[in-house]
Amino acid sequence: MGPKAVIDGCLLSPSALVERSWGEGVDFRRARAVREDAALTDMTETAGVQPERRRMVEFLLGGGMLASVLSFFYPVLRYLVPPAVPDLGGDEVVAAKAGDLKPNSSKIFRFGNRPGLLLMSADGGYRAMSATCTHLSCTVQYRNDLHQVWCACHNGLYDLNGRNLSGPPPRPLEAYQVHVRGDEIVVSRKREG
Ligand code: FES
Repeated sequence: MGPKAVIDGCLLSPSALVERSWGEGVDFRRARAVREDAALTDMTETAGVQPERRRMVEFLLGGGMLASVLSFFYPVLRYLVPPAVPDLGGDEVVAAKAGDLKPNSSKIFRFGNRPGLLLMSADGGYRAMSATCTHLSCTVQYRNDLHQVWCACHNGLYDLNGRNLSGPPPRPLEAYQVHVRGDEIVVSRKREG
């Protein structure tokens, strides 16, 4: 008979001690197996959910980036492409609404597939002409500081009727007729004869 030990207030023989520790080992292994099962279940569930979450996050990030890109390029596009205006049949177009222009200002409008220039002179009269420079086809603009039409490409100058004044432009700009119809400013080509 070997030495005995007192555990939890009980006097235990060596064989009882071995039996008890073996039993605790079984309990410990069982508990560990249960924990591992639970962890495996968690991993399986998480593995099913994560791709869905990842797809959602990727979708949101992709949408955000697309919105940023669009918000950057949209103003540039609007600047480069003149706004659409109703075309009344090729020789006539509504270039603006009454009140769009103030004296000594202008706007570019689309006339067929070419730009046109509508301007209101300082005295409040409308004038319209082709906005395509007769030199090398740059788009001209109204200079309200000069009260003249100017081509920035080679410093060409035209008067308010489109006549070439100085610089390289060889010919006048094509002048158009302007009619005020109700609240519409209608521009049309001048008819020959
Ligand atoms: S293109 Fe206008 S001046 Fe040359």
